[in-house]
Amino acid sequence: MKDDNFLKENNARHLWHPMGHPGAAQETPPRIISGAEGVRITDIDGHSAIDAVGGLWCVNLGYSNDPVKQAISDQLSVLPYYSAFAGTSNPTAIEASERVRAFFAEDGMARVFFTSGGSDSVDVALRLARQYHRLRGEPTRTKFLSLKKGYHGTHFGGASVNGNPRFRHGYEPLLPGCFHLPAPYTYRNPFDETDPAALAQRIAAAMEDEIAFQGADTIAALIVEPILGAGGVIVPHETFFPLMRDICDRHGILMISDEVITGFGRTGDWSGARHWGVQPDMMTTAKGISSGYFPVGATLVNEKVAEVFEGADADGAIYTGYTYSAHPVGAAAVVATLDETVRLDLKTNAAARGAQLYEGCLKLAEKYDIVGDVRGGHGLMTGVELVSDRDAKTPMDAATMKRIHDAAWEAGAMVRLGMHNILMSPPLTITEDEVNTVLGALDAGFSVA
Ligand SMILES: Cc1ncc(COP(=O)(O)O)c(C=O)c1O
Repeated sequence: MKDDNFLKENNARHLWHPMGHPGAAQETPPRIISGAEGVRITDIDGHSAIDAVGGLWCVNLGYSNDPVKQAISDQLSVLPYYSAFAGTSNPTAIEASERVRAFFAEDGMARVFFTSGGSDSVDVALRLARQYHRLRGEPTRTKFLSLKKGYHGTHFGGASVNGNPRFRHGYEPLLPGCFHLPAPYTYRNPFDETDPAALAQRIAAAMEDEIAFQGADTIAALIVEPILGAGGVIVPHETFFPLMRDICDRHGILMISDEVITGFGRTGDWSGARHWGVQPDMMTTAKGISSGYFPVGATLVNEKVAEVFEGADADGAIYTGYTYSAHPVGAAAVVATLDETVRLDLKTNAAARGAQLYEGCLKLAEKYDIVGDVRGGHGLMTGVELVSDRDAKTPMDAATMKRIHDAAWEAGAMVRLGMHNILMSPPLTITEDEVNTVLGALDAGFSVA
């Protein structure tokens, strides 16, 4: 390992970072995180803080889970890689597929397709949705519906259904045939509707309208997050997901629940769809599937979709997938992660600590005028939207956001900025005391605005 001077000197000089400006990264180099233990991360200068980001909504088990580390290491010795393209498999992938399917059996999931991450899982789901309709004799169903503010990764398909202009404009033209509905975002929406149940009805009406306009027989799928994560932790009303399910059913449209963040306990339930009492047709997962210890994702389909593929002629062959799909080391990480996720009953802690974090942020909103909106209360996903003028809801400027972020870090918590939102998704193992530390650090951060 090179020494600290080398690392600081070369920081961001050769590495272009995702989701940032490469020139700006050279001027203000990123923090170098060099170690982690439990729910804490440590930078190269020895400063330690609670990771209220959970890596990137993914380190559900915290950083010190030895059974998962051991499983990865053991698998590396036995079989570090083999392809799962048609014709070969490996024992760990077979076990992992059975485990993931069983984990989501209550959601109606029947088959598992492994990928290398969330964007891959989304891409696979969109492809399978089109192919499903083609196999059933409805090849005109090629379009996709999704939500503004939604985030579905950055492959061209995912970027096309994404609802944030940031991830779209530089890369257009994107996939044709993608249409966006308003988000269930009570703080700002085109209807000026602050009641979440009424807003859910408005969006359902907009969806019906769009389907009538496009023609139901042209639409393959709706893709939607149970709680919108990167878009600012937007929590829909409890009627929203069931409404979406009902409309999809009535129009023959597949419902894809993007569970890349919400899967594996983050919402306080094992899946976000289950949290809302809905069975989707497909689920896209990643992140918590391996607690971020190895890059893995999975797309799941229900029996209805599986039957169409498995009963089809040669056109039922799936001509997508990745070199690292069903990677044996990733599969070992998945099996061990699921064991630990269930053993530690992460969903129950996520619900309790999520409520604590949310309520703590609501208290901070009473103290600081810069807090425009606090969103969460459904597991360990919390968003705090900051404004410079509460009445006008003016988004807080980037320089102030950075100052707040730095002050929170100095006071003991790493939080994530998403524009003028503070986003939090700590490991699901976090304790009551540690949540209090995060709240204290946020308090310190807000005080420097
Ligand atoms: C809901 C959702 N879908 C897809 C993705 C993309 O996952 P990845 O970054 O692993 O490609 C993300 C990433 O944050 C996500 O939050």
